[in-house]
Amino acid sequence: MESITFRRPVDLHVHFRDGSMLDKVVPFTARQFARAIVMPNLTPPVTSAAMAQAYRQRILAAVPDDLDFTPMMTCYLTDQTDVTDLLAGYRDGIFAAAKLYPAHATTNAQFGVTSIAAIDHVFAAMADAGMPLLTHGELVRHDVDIFDREQYFLDEVLAPLLERHPTLRLVLEHITTSEGAAFATRYGSRVAATITPQHLLFNRNALFEGGLRPHLYCMPILKRARHQQALRAAATSGLPNFFLGTDTAPHVRSAKEADCGCAGVFSAPVAVEAYLCVFDQEAALARFEAFASLNGPAFYGFPPDQQLVTYIRQRQPVALSVAVDNDEIVPLFGGGSVDWTLRQKV
Ligand code: NCD
Ligand code: ZN
Repeated sequence: MESITFRRPVDLHVHFRDGSMLDKVVPFTARQFARAIVMPNLTPPVTSAAMAQAYRQRILAAVPDDLDFTPMMTCYLTDQTDVTDLLAGYRDGIFAAAKLYPAHATTNAQFGVTSIAAIDHVFAAMADAGMPLLTHGELVRHDVDIFDREQYFLDEVLAPLLERHPTLRLVLEHITTSEGAAFATRYGSRVAATITPQHLLFNRNALFEGGLRPHLYCMPILKRARHQQALRAAATSGLPNFFLGTDTAPHVRSAKEADCGCAGVFSAPVAVEAYLCVFDQEAALARFEAFASLNGPAFYGFPPDQQLVTYIRQRQPVALSVAVDNDEIVPLFGGGSVDWTLRQKV
C-alpha cells in the first residue's frame, strides 16, 4: 500500500503541560488528531471542573487557527476528590473521565491517591454515572520490581476493584505487558487499553543500546521483547478494547539528561507516522483505522471524526529538537526520519 486514508485519528492520552511548553506542543497534536484526551498531571493538578474548564481554554488558545481540534479533559483523583464536583463536571461535559495516579508512580504523581480503598465511594459514584476511570496501572511498593509493577497492579488492585464495582468502565492507560493486554479483553466491553508508539516500537534493550538512552525512558518503563510482541498483536488485532494513546510527555532536554532524569517520550510530532510504521511491519494497515480513529470514540461514546486524512509512503526527516524556554525538547526519532507523510490538502 503506497497510501492510506482513514478518518482523522484521536489521541486518547496526551500531556500538554502548561504555559510556553503548552503553546509549543499543542500544535503538533492538533495537526494530526481531531481530538485528544488530556491528562491532568499539572502542578498543581487539575482536580476540579473549574480548573479543567480554564485549562481547556488555555489549550484552545494554543491551537492554530486553521486547525480543528477538540481537547477533552480529565480530573486528577486525589485522596480529597470532591465527588459532587466530579459528577457535575462529567454531566456538564467538562470532564470526559477521571485519572487515577497511584501516589509516586510517575511525573507529578506526588498528589496521587495513597489509598484506593479510601476513595472507593468515588469509584462507586463513577460506576453509577458511567464515567470512565483511567488508570496509571503500576503498584509502587519497595518489594515490587519496577518491571513487575503493572502485573501487581492488575492482580492486587484492578481485579478486585472491577469485582467490587461491576459496572465501572475502565481504561488501562499505556499498557506495557502481555498481562495488561490479556486483562483488557477479559472483561468484555467495560475495559479497554491505550498503547503508546514506544511500547510497540521498542523493548527494554533499546534503553541501553550503545549507552543509556534517556529519551526512551518513560513510565511504565519499556519491557521485554515478548511483551512488545504481545502489544503489537493487541494493537493490530482490530479488537475494540485497544486504541491509540500516545502518552506524548514532553520534558526539556536538561530535565531528561540529568542525574535524576524525568520519565516521558515526546512523540507528538511523529505519532501517527510511528504507529503506521508498526502496522505496516505487521501487515495490518487494514486495521489501522479501528485502532486510531474508531475504537477510542466508541468506548468514550462520541462519534468518529467525519474528515478523512491520507498518509503517503514517503520518507520525511524529523527535527532534532523543538526549542522552548532557552532549552529544547527532543522528539521521538529526533534527527532521524519516518517513512510516512501526511498529505497536505491542496
Ligand atoms: C508522563 C509525564 O511525564 O507526565 N510520563 C511518562 O513517562 N509517561 C506521566 C505518565 O503518563 O506516566
Ligand atoms: Zn501519560
